[in-house]
Amino acid sequence: MLYLKSLEPASSDTDMLVIPVCEDAELHDHPLLSSMVARIQKLHEFKGAKGDEVILYDPPGAKTHRVIFTGLGPAAGADREVIRAAVGRVVKQALQKKLRNIAVVVPSLDLPGIATDAVIESLLEGAALANHRIAAYKTDKDSRPLKRIDVLVPPETARACGKMSNQVREICQGSLMARDWVNMPANDKTPTSLSRSIAGRARSAGLQVKTFGRKELQKGKFGAIIAVSAASRNAPAMVELVHAPKGVQKTVVIVGKGVTFDSGGLNLKTSKTLNMMKADMAGAAAAAAALLAIARLKPKLRVVGIVPLVENMLSGSATRPGDIIRAYSGKTVEIGNTDAEGRLILADAIAYAVARHKPDFLIDVATLTGACVMALGEGMAGLFSNNEPLAAAILQSAEKTHERCWRMPLPEDYKDQLKSELADINNMPATRWGGAITAALFLKEFIGQTPWAHIDIAGPAYRKNGSDYCGPGGTGFGVRLLCDLMAQLE
Ligand code: BES
Ligand code: MN
Ligand code: ZN
Repeated sequence: MLYLKSLEPASSDTDMLVIPVCEDAELHDHPLLSSMVARIQKLHEFKGAKGDEVILYDPPGAKTHRVIFTGLGPAAGADREVIRAAVGRVVKQALQKKLRNIAVVVPSLDLPGIATDAVIESLLEGAALANHRIAAYKTDKDSRPLKRIDVLVPPETARACGKMSNQVREICQGSLMARDWVNMPANDKTPTSLSRSIAGRARSAGLQVKTFGRKELQKGKFGAIIAVSAASRNAPAMVELVHAPKGVQKTVVIVGKGVTFDSGGLNLKTSKTLNMMKADMAGAAAAAAALLAIARLKPKLRVVGIVPLVENMLSGSATRPGDIIRAYSGKTVEIGNTDAEGRLILADAIAYAVARHKPDFLIDVATLTGACVMALGEGMAGLFSNNEPLAAAILQSAEKTHERCWRMPLPEDYKDQLKSELADINNMPATRWGGAITAALFLKEFIGQTPWAHIDIAGPAYRKNGSDYCGPGGTGFGVRLLCDLMAQLE
């Protein structure tokens, strides 16, 4: 658990006391801390540069047995992300050392580029996000998260920042939930079982929940979802989660792509690209986990989460390349490629969301294209939007949360790539160039006039080797971004 505490650092009997240090500025006016920092900076291996770390055992004058100094680099460059990363690395070390708790000292002196409450928020975030272990599949349950992380501040700050620290806890809990769902192997998250997991948690969080099984989807004419799921022995599903505070009109819908495994279908992926396709539901995980957090944050906004869930497989009942289906919207779609399945299930979920909820804003989050990873790498998502204020708000949240997004274009003439001889539209573009754009343009055909943003998270949803505050695997990308965005749209 994560706590904001007012406690004298020297008398804390924590397993490890954490001291952030800048290479060119003093951050602590506490006499014991500043003298320790001054001494430690005389060592050649620790100057306070970004990534520098050193542990002092049994320091005189302090109750704790370990003090770790963690470098933020030059004071002028210390922003939210530098702080998250510095504390994240420390938490990962503490996990490796199998410690039970740590206490992080908040700098008492100002940093030039960042307000004190933002420093505290970032420390809390880095700590909460890094304190995560996946033990579910290990027989030896040895790896546990830290039992408690105290962030030490003066008493008046603890009072002033209490609400913020609760919010950080809820939001980061959502990020970790999304990671757990993404990391879960595909044999344990069939569309039906994942829909149950989501629905169960959503009900406990106080959301209104509606679930659709194969029958309901067939009856409801979700033709694209049915077509993508046709080859799998595991039936498709869809979950609708609603946060509806009283007296609120404005509605935001969040749709998340939920392909529990993407084999490519008959357009089978190669063994290299098949790898990690259990993560092809990261958009659904982000949308559902964001709604769980939203249920607790209670923004004054109607927020609806919609997650279509399918397994894209191949068998005698598979949808064939060249098949034509009728989507929920009534449009006919030629399935030029069974591996372009994400846009199909999203088309149905989006058309349903627009008809059913008439949203003021619709945002979809999807691991949609390899082309987006080619364009932007693993560090950021592609953002496509038909609405300037919405795009601006998303970019602002992306900047703040460091769930980075880069705006991409929606050129009208590229739509020609999606022409079909026989049907209204083809899910497979005529060229492979600009694949992230043509995928977004496909979705745009189902949004009507609704202010909309599509976030292609194929790159940042998954990190094979982890990062400063994330273990290897699912990153939970999108949860913090969406929660911050809701606060903006409120
Ligand atoms: N799930 C994939 C996209 C993807 C690729 C996600 C790599 C994460 C990492 C998606 O369903 C897909 O297969 N897209 C195709 C589209 C193409 C057939 C038009 C792609 O990107 O190659
Ligand atoms: Mn695919
Ligand atoms: Zn896919």
